[in-house]
Amino acid sequence: MIDIIHAEEKIAQLRQEIERHNCLYYVEAKPEFSDFEFDKLLEQLVELEKQFPDLVTPDSPSQRVGGTITKEFLTVIHREPMLSLSNTYSLGEMEEFYNRVKKLLALEGVEEQEMVAELKFDGVAISLLYRDGLLVQGATRGDGVQGDDITVNIRTIPTVPLKLIGGADGEIEVRGEVFMRKDDFEQINESRPEEERFANPRNATAGTLKMQDSAEVARRRMSFVAYYLKGISDESTTHFRRLKLLEKLGFSTGNHYRLCRELHDINDFIAEWSEKRWELPYETDGVVLKLNAVAIREKLGATSKSPRWAIAYKYPAQQARTVLNAVVFQVGRLGTITPVAELEPVLLAGSTVSRSTLHNFDEIERLGIMIHDRVIIEKSGEVIPKVISVVLDERPSDVQPIVIPLNCPACGTLLKKSEGEVSYYCPSEEECPAQIRGRVLHFASRNAMDIRNLGKALVDQLVSIKLVKDVGDLYFLQEPLVENLERMGRKSAQNLVHALDESRAKSYERLLYALGIRHVGRATARELSQAYPSLEALMQASEEELSTVPDIGPVVARSICDYFAKPTASYFLEKLRAAGLQLSASESTIQVNRNFEGLTVLFTGGLDRYDRQQASELVVERGGRVVNSVSKKTGLVVAGHDPGSKLDKARKLGVRVVSEDEFDKML
Ligand code: IVH
Repeated sequence: MIDIIHAEEKIAQLRQEIERHNCLYYVEAKPEFSDFEFDKLLEQLVELEKQFPDLVTPDSPSQRVGGTITKEFLTVIHREPMLSLSNTYSLGEMEEFYNRVKKLLALEGVEEQEMVAELKFDGVAISLLYRDGLLVQGATRGDGVQGDDITVNIRTIPTVPLKLIGGADGEIEVRGEVFMRKDDFEQINESRPEEERFANPRNATAGTLKMQDSAEVARRRMSFVAYYLKGISDESTTHFRRLKLLEKLGFSTGNHYRLCRELHDINDFIAEWSEKRWELPYETDGVVLKLNAVAIREKLGATSKSPRWAIAYKYPAQQARTVLNAVVFQVGRLGTITPVAELEPVLLAGSTVSRSTLHNFDEIERLGIMIHDRVIIEKSGEVIPKVISVVLDERPSDVQPIVIPLNCPACGTLLKKSEGEVSYYCPSEEECPAQIRGRVLHFASRNAMDIRNLGKALVDQLVSIKLVKDVGDLYFLQEPLVENLERMGRKSAQNLVHALDESRAKSYERLLYALGIRHVGRATARELSQAYPSLEALMQASEEELSTVPDIGPVVARSICDYFAKPTASYFLEKLRAAGLQLSASESTIQVNRNFEGLTVLFTGGLDRYDRQQASELVVERGGRVVNSVSKKTGLVVAGHDPGSKLDKARKLGVRVVSEDEFDKML
């Protein structure tokens, strides 16, 4: 174990190194380290800070790994309302806007009209608050007047500075857009079961920002660009200068803004980026034009929704024409049949498109589409293109109707349609290989049992030769058998068996989600695992009882009962028990008291019975919040041995201080 002096040095060195690599990766896009090497550095830092908790500072990169669970986000009121922008798809309207502002400026006696053209980032707007150079709050836009305090999640974003470069006194507000890079988005989506995939990076970002588990948020790797700064002493500056200042403080602005003096500069910018934007690593959906002179902006004012000094030009959705070659029918894990268009490959908005979902048969009818038709496809913010219309004038003579299949394309069973539903489904839940495959893949997916070595090709084989008929069978696979499958071998077989072994320890809550019960997502699985700490208890719950669990409505309750009422259910669950899976909640996840409801807690010094992480989780589970710095709002300080200066500060502020023993009693 190293002494505190050396630890301090080492920690400072690691932090500097980590920030440097962060910058190389995110700002300069010239990484020198692989993700693995980077994670190793971060791990070292986290480990050292665990040993020397008093050396943890709120701006340490270790604070980005997350770990806090938030039950409900607090509300914050924005210093100034977060307005939206008025939008247009028309260059003519852009010109009108330009002239209108010019006239208004002339009335003010201003001759020169400078505008800043920026890209319109397709993400989620947030507001950041810095006090004396340190990030103290991150909030969503909400309804513009008040949003959610999502600081814990914001901290995990590598391009949000935790501390401003060069510092800055007082309170500063920075606004900008959180987004997901296209490559990060694709990676995340690939790891999710098909029916849980996000339609586009913006939806993924919005969903991620609201997650309760900040460690998961950290894993999703979001990014941030800043486009607004307020509160810095140099208030007289122009927007252009403020963007430069943001960069100096450590923010990324995306770097693609331009000062425009004449209308043609603006049109040039729009034209230039209409194509170039496809090469960017993130999605943009237009150009934002802002009056450069900040002081004059206020004179122009705002409507209730948007300011009069800015406007957004949106690029039209990208369309392409192609031919519908065929329609294939996919069977999902819940048996739903989805028609998928197979298209003549065509280049659209930077990528080649050859498939597109037609959703359901109502959609086919609505489009009036037939095989061999000329069709228009469109990408509008969505990563996945859609067929939007048929070119009826050019319908060839050899068109053929799209016939709803009578039988399941995977197993031949007669399809059914439930009353009031738009989709057909295959009722052969137990036998249909497509459904089994879907269930196994869902079970193995990252948020479920996270069985890394169980890929699509292997699942296909296991299911088609009937080695696996349900997820329980996975746990009885023998190495020699697996070894002889196609593209397997000794090592891959060992890896698979090992991964399966590890997954046996996955929590009951994960298992509940992994079972793939219709309508039971991760949040519902969590609620269920608290209300019914064992599968046995859950099986016995009636529909009425289930409906009383928070967030579980009659449809979900019904679906859970249906699941357990199946004739094979008890045999299946016996198999899971024999496989050694966690069919009940471990002590720590069982519903606990709410003794810390609403209480903000700070730890200082070393604890004997818990490590910091555990202690924090215990507080959060009981409704409290854990913070890193003392203020008047801190409700409780738990002082362990060798407490740091935070204890003195707490005493000065009159915050209640307790020992570890007292804390233990409170728990
Ligand atoms: S300025 C009052 N600049 O677009 C001006 N917004 O439709 C407020 N957005 O809520 C925003 N890129 O989420 C601004 N360069 C940019 C932007 C941008 C994307 C988003 C932002 C805003 C929405 C308005």
